[in-house]
Amino acid sequence: MTILVTGAGGQVGRELVMRAGRRALVGLDRSQLDITDAGAVAAALSARRVRLVVNAAAWTAVDRAESEPNASWSVNRAGPAVLAAACAAVTVPLLHISTDYVFDGRSAVPYDEASAVAPLGVYGRSKWAGEQAIRDALPDRHVILRVAWVFGAHGGNFVRTMLRLGQEREALSVVADQYGAPTHAGAVATALLSIADRYGTEAALPWGTYHLSGTPVTTWHGFAESIFAEACATGLLARAPLVHPIPTEAYPLPAPRPANSAFDCTLIRARFGIEPPPWMAGLREVLNTWKRTS
Ligand SMILES: NC(=O)c1ccc[n+]([C@@H]2O[C@H](COP(=O)([O-])OP(=O)(O)OC[C@H]3O[C@@H](n4cnc5c(N)ncnc54)[C@H](OP(=O)(O)O)[C@@H]3O)[C@@H](O)[C@H]2O)c1
Repeated sequence: MTILVTGAGGQVGRELVMRAGRRALVGLDRSQLDITDAGAVAAALSARRVRLVVNAAAWTAVDRAESEPNASWSVNRAGPAVLAAACAAVTVPLLHISTDYVFDGRSAVPYDEASAVAPLGVYGRSKWAGEQAIRDALPDRHVILRVAWVFGAHGGNFVRTMLRLGQEREALSVVADQYGAPTHAGAVATALLSIADRYGTEAALPWGTYHLSGTPVTTWHGFAESIFAEACATGLLARAPLVHPIPTEAYPLPAPRPANSAFDCTLIRARFGIEPPPWMAGLREVLNTWKRTS
C-alpha cells in the first residue's frame, strides 16, 4: 500500500518519513508538491498509485496569519479541499492533522470531539474551515487528528526557542496561565502510521475526528521548567535560568491563544488503542537527538 505524505519537510512530516520503516511511503515537501495545486495533487496520486494520503502540510505561522490571512486560508482551507477532492476522485482516504486552535480555550474541562468550536484567530478559523472542507468532499473516508503544542527535533518550536533563550539569558518570563499538553511530533507520526496500517489490513476505518495530545497537562511555564531541567541533565545547558511565571496579558502576541487546550483523548484510545504519549519521554528524545548532533 503506497502512502503519500504531503508537507514532508515539516515537524510531523519529517517524523512520518523517518518512522516509515518498511512501509511504501512517499514523502513530498512543499517544493515537490504544493497541496493547493489541484493538477499537481491529482498527478501525484495517480502516478504513484497512492492508496492513502496523510496531510502534514499546513501554514503554522499563527501570528503571521493575522497579517497574512490569505496565506493561512490558502494552505489550511484550500489545500485540504484540493486534497479531499483528489482523494474522493480515486476513492482514497485522507488522514489530516488539525489543531486545538479550533477552540476558544474557555472550557473548564478538556475538549472532546463533540465540543463546540470557536476559533479565536485567523489560523484557527482557517484550520476549522479546512476540516469542514474535508468533511464535505470526503464524508466517509477521512480521519482528522487534532493535536496540540507540537514539538520535535526538526523545525521551529517551543523547546528549541527555550533552549536558545536558556543559553543566552540567566532569567526569562514564561506564560503560566495557558494550559495544554505538549505533544511529540514523533508520537503524532506514530499514531498516524498505526491508523494507516489498520486501513491497510482492514480496508476500512472508524472514520471521523479524533483528539490526541501528550500527557500530563501543564502550562508553558511548567513545560519550560522541565525543558531546562532536562537540558541540564542531558548536558545541553550548564545552568537552568530562572523562569518567572507571567500572565498572558504580560506577553501580548498578534494571535490570541486558547487559555485551555487540554484534550479528552478517550475516543482515540477506545477506537484505535492509541494512548496519549507522555511528553517527558518525547522531550528527552528530542534533547538527546540534539545532544548527539551538537
Ligand atoms: N506546531 C504546533 O504546535 C501544532 C499544534 C497543533 C496542530 N498542529 C498541526 O499539526 C500539523 C503539522 O504541524 P507541524 O508542526 O509539523 O508544522 P510545520 O513544521 O510548520 O510543517 C508544515 C509543513 O507544511 C509545508 N507547507 C506549507 N504550505 C504548503 C503547501 N502549500 N503545500 C505543501 N506543503 C506546504 C511547510 O513548508 P515550508 O516550511 O516550506 O513552508 C512545512 O514543511 C499541521 O496541520 C498543524 O496545523 C501543529
